[in-house]
Amino acid sequence: MNETLQVIKERRSIKQYKAEQIPDADLQQIMEAAIYAPNARNAQAWHFTVIQKKDMIDRMVGIIKENIMNSGIEFLMGRASEPDYHTFHHAPAIVIVTGDEKDKFREVSCGAAAENIALAAKSLNIGSCVMTSPEFLFASDKGNALKKELGIPDGYTHVCVVTLGYNEGKEPETPPRNKDVITYVK
Ligand SMILES: Cc1cc2nc3c(=O)[nH]c(=O)nc-3n(C[C@H](O)[C@H](O)[C@H](O)COP(=O)(O)O)c2cc1C
Repeated sequence: MNETLQVIKERRSIKQYKAEQIPDADLQQIMEAAIYAPNARNAQAWHFTVIQKKDMIDRMVGIIKENIMNSGIEFLMGRASEPDYHTFHHAPAIVIVTGDEKDKFREVSCGAAAENIALAAKSLNIGSCVMTSPEFLFASDKGNALKKELGIPDGYTHVCVVTLGYNEGKEPETPPRNKDVITYVK
């Protein structure tokens, strides 16, 4: 298997992080990979907010937790009320990926960028997790008030977050994949 395929197959979602920050040089390379993702009409209708400030990350978790507890979604409320709940699994760095509300294909383009971030990180031995539960940050006025502080452009909306950091636990097992989802028409 070549190195690219190996990185793709061996990337796992990391859900337990060391406090150690990732080097700036690695972060630059990871974010460079993000903007080289395929994207609809090359509109590049995305924005990336990279946060390494623990205070800000914890503030966001507080608001997300509050909004989940008000959501009425029992499965999420159960998770968020666990004592060790932390949306970002204590990652020292997170990337909020937002897309232009007017771009019909923003989720596809931003999703491709998120995967590039995760794969570039893996190639540098940095763990990551793509996640959508942070959408709850923007489910209240308190969360939306942070948008300016986070440099999210007007008219851009949350697509996902990618956490970044070093794995604190053992390498996660590979969740099983269904192999019968591919049809070849030849
Ligand atoms: C669109 C999307 C949303 C996800 N949301 C979350 C999330 O909110 N929280 C989380 O811990 N993991 C989240 N994940 C990670 C998945 O749990 C993980 O990708 C899946 O279990 C497969 O495991 P693997 O990434 O290790 O192959 C998300 C992944 C994707 C692609």
